[in-house]
This record gives sequence, C-alpha cells and structure tokens, in this order.
Amino acid sequence: MTQPDTELRVSKIENGTVIDHVTAGEALRVLAILGIDGTEGETVSVGINVPSDRLGRKDVVKVEGMELSQDEVDVLSLIAPDATINIIREYEVIEKSRVDRPESVVGVLTCPNTNCITNAGEPVKTHFDVLDTGVQCRYCETIIRENITDHIET
Ligand code: CTP
Ligand code: ZN
Repeated sequence: MTQPDTELRVSKIENGTVIDHVTAGEALRVLAILGIDGTEGETVSVGINVPSDRLGRKDVVKVEGMELSQDEVDVLSLIAPDATINIIREYEVIEKSRVDRPESVVGVLTCPNTNCITNAGEPVKTHFDVLDTGVQCRYCETIIRENITDHIET
C-alpha cells in the first residue's frame, strides 16, 4: 500500500534554489540575509519547523530564479551551519552542496565598535574570524555573539 507523502509541505519548484536543512526557526533570518522580501515579485516558499529525519525539525527556503553569491553562502553558514543548497533546473536537483563554515568572512559584516579602524572611513575591509561562539573582528578583537545578521553590510 502506498503511503501518502505526508512530508511535502512546500511545493517543488521548477527553477531556482532550495536552501534545505536550515536551523529550525531561522528561515526568516535567511531571507533577511539574502535581502528577499518579495518586493521584486520573486516567488518564495518557506517552511518553518517542518519535521526532518536528520534534524528533528528544520526550515526550508525555496526561491525561484535565484542564485546565491559566495558572500551570501558564507553568512548563511553562520546561522544555518547544516544547510544544503540545492540548485533546481526543470524540476531536477542539478547541484547539491553543503554550506561550509568559513574560517573568516571579509567585507560582509560591519564592526559594532565605532572606534574600529574599519569604521574610520579608511579603505579597510572588515575581517571577522569565525569562532565557535561567534565572530571576532581581526582589527579590534570585538566579538559578536548574537544576532550576527544585524551586522551585515548593506
Ligand atoms: N526540491 C524542490 N523542487 C524540486 C526538487 C527538489 O523544492 N523540483 C526540494 C526538495 O523538496 C528538498 C530539496 O529540494 O527539500 C532537495 O531535494 P532532493 O535532493 O530531491 O531531496 P533529498 O534527497 O531529501 O535531499 P537531502 O539528501 O539533501 O536531504
Ligand atoms: Zn573592529
């Protein structure tokens, strides 16, 4: 007897990117990082706290017709270390990759320390080392532990 597919809560997409295995509850922050708010008319589907064999619960983000830059993937990895990026073409998964926790992120985050050289109007790119508990500015050693996504350069 065939079991009904009770796991599929968000429709398959034709072309685009599926960010799967996102830490449960982080999907909206993932969208914020990617600057996706629907104002461009893009089709976006989000599953929050959906059951997952591997993670218990997970979030899923599906964006039609979008490709991620390496900077975006780097920042994603800070809040969704288990995420899988699936590129979909004509309904098929043509590429699947895990996000890779980078050792550092350059030019992605701003330093919260107003006295930091990176906030002095000098041509210095921000450079944060990724720690287990957060990220640390290489110039002034300030550590950001929470709400890392609030510090993304715009
Ligand atoms: N997916 C989609 N649209 C498609 C194909 C796949 O939205 N046309 C989604 C699936 O729902 C799933 C993800 O892309 O969330 C990865 O698809 P697939 O590799 O087929 O699933 P799994 O084998 O379960 O993936 P994994 O091994 O990474 O858990
Ligand atoms: Zn700094």
